[in-house]
Amino acid sequence: MRYYSIAIDGPSGAGKSTMAKAISAELGCVYLDTGAIYRTVAYHMILMGISPKDRDGVNRLIDDVNIKIEFPGDGRQHMILNGYDVTDEIRTSQISQGASQVSAHPVVRDVLLDLQRDMAKSNNVIMDGRDIGTVVLPDADVKIFLTASARERAKRRLKELEEKGEKITFQQVLADIEERDERDSTRAIAPLRCAPDAIRVDTSKLNLQQSIDHLLSIIREKLGDLV
Ligand code: DC
Repeated sequence: MRYYSIAIDGPSGAGKSTMAKAISAELGCVYLDTGAIYRTVAYHMILMGISPKDRDGVNRLIDDVNIKIEFPGDGRQHMILNGYDVTDEIRTSQISQGASQVSAHPVVRDVLLDLQRDMAKSNNVIMDGRDIGTVVLPDADVKIFLTASARERAKRRLKELEEKGEKITFQQVLADIEERDERDSTRAIAPLRCAPDAIRVDTSKLNLQQSIDHLLSIIREKLGDLV
């Protein structure tokens, strides 16, 4: 049996997870949110009193991180860190920055690579992240680079955070996004960039349904008989 894989990369807040969720529901494939894995590593470091920026500290502790990814059927990807479900805890602004910092360390990227690739070996998958089309699944059947202006992404992220009750201003969210964009795209290893064979989609001027429809038409055309 041949499994297909779809890679969606792009900067923070471009709508990757919303798109990937909708597409996985439509096609009936597994959706893997790879950012959640980096978030879980960052959460562990912070819990242990290690700054996610501290390369030596992260190197020392990385072997203590045991991550399991579960899909219990409630529509969410559950992240289990050393036996504890941290799915909700990893969604704060502090962990967003921590994940971006921790993801710049080669040892972290290395440890997480197999975890991500294994998922694609035995499932039809859609994965979103920063380096899926370039590093994790360079042979993915479909590669999409999803983007939107920083202001538009900040607007969407602010709405999400407000709905969760986080008190934060538009300027803070925008600064946060710009800082993460800069770090994620300038790091030495597996930086955020559009793979040469990826299709670039800018959603700044598209609403949710238009974006989903557009991506689905690209994917259906590329996958042909596989879906
Ligand atoms: O997608 P997200 O916002 O949950 O990701 C959090 C951070 O994790 C992001 O700023 C960079 C890092 N990340 C990465 O380096 N590679 C991935 N494939 C996914 C996320």
